[in-house]
Amino acid sequence: ERVVLAYSGGVDTTVCIPYLMNEWGVKEVITLAADLGQGDELEPIRQKALTAGAKESLVGDATERFIQDYAFPSIQANALYENRYPLSTALARPLIARLLVEAAEKYGADAVAHGCTGKGNDQVRFDVSIAALNPHLKVLAPAREWGMSREETIAYGEQFGLSFPVKKSSPYSIDRNLLGRSIEAGPLENPWNEPLEEIYVMTNGIAATPDEPTYVEIGFEQGLPVSLNGSSLAAVELVSQLNAIAGEHGVGRIDMIENRLVGIKSREIYEAPALLVLILAHRDLESLTLTADVTHYKRGIEESYSQMIYNGLWYSPLKAALDAFIQKTQERVSGTVRVKLFKGTATIVGRKSDKALYSEELATYSSDDQFDHKAAEGFIYVWGLPTRVWSEKNRQG
Ligand code: ARG
Ligand code: SIN
Repeated sequence: ERVVLAYSGGVDTTVCIPYLMNEWGVKEVITLAADLGQGDELEPIRQKALTAGAKESLVGDATERFIQDYAFPSIQANALYENRYPLSTALARPLIARLLVEAAEKYGADAVAHGCTGKGNDQVRFDVSIAALNPHLKVLAPAREWGMSREETIAYGEQFGLSFPVKKSSPYSIDRNLLGRSIEAGPLENPWNEPLEEIYVMTNGIAATPDEPTYVEIGFEQGLPVSLNGSSLAAVELVSQLNAIAGEHGVGRIDMIENRLVGIKSREIYEAPALLVLILAHRDLESLTLTADVTHYKRGIEESYSQMIYNGLWYSPLKAALDAFIQKTQERVSGTVRVKLFKGTATIVGRKSDKALYSEELATYSSDDQFDHKAAEGFIYVWGLPTRVWSEKNRQG
């Protein structure tokens, strides 16, 4: 049989190639490596898969699709898992699943494969997304079953002539794409240990940040980021530039204990500078342009939406229905947000919009005030009536 394997060039997914063929009797392994802006060079990865025995080695840039179709809807939803994690890794999974399914259909494969372990969220996201897109494809997960340690995995690969450069081996498990980095394991497994500065790549430590703030103006059209400091930018360019600016000021680090779907609590470090700033700015623009009831109702939707992304339900009917709600709300969310980046903080210091529902004449305490103060009295009588009645009944006896 023929299998399309999600390939990163790392030890696990490389060893998956001979493993699938020799232990599971797979005839042809086609590898697929997607560039999601993680900064790896694709050509060496392509060659490595062929050396490890892949029949075909597919590589392709999917960064634009990643930002447009996965990150931007998530920003419109202000999606933060457990109020903190902007889902930088989780958002990549349904896209990789889609690329696997597309390749499997194109090359007539019977199965797709990935290198996830059995303890994480990623396996759930791959398996469920693939099932949603093509329920007839089998999903193979060798690393979930082989039970080999790191050393054993390397030794297994060496039997097949594979060599793994012994670059100072990192104790950390790292996932990276244009949206961010997720770092876990090693000394981080003790939640009391402060993360060492060495784990960060996209963000400066406070000691290394500039002593002057930087201001950025982010323009949105219908909830989508479209410009930075007045220049229109394509999605990928905008995120890249904002990553650099915010990262320089140490903005975008998160250190949290999170609840995985598989029941485990894990200690995770993230850096996601642009994504966090964009969510912050977008949410602020919504507060200027949406009515109170839509804003409040949407908060509940956002919570469900974040959980669905985290829990692997990107391609689900409920998610699609929530998307329709969110899209409807975004019609008015156009304008500009001004953000001050300084010493690890991103502070919204200004916002403006042609669609603003904010009225200075109503809000002002000056003599320009147009709010009818006398109307408040009758309103408060009616508003407080149930409380008044309740109080009278409960004071008796
Ligand atoms: N815990 C995070 C998440 O569920 C990060 C996962 C990192 N994945 C990885 N293969 N290292 O999205
Ligand atoms: C893994 O075990 O595959 C990484 C962690 C995760 O998926 O949550």
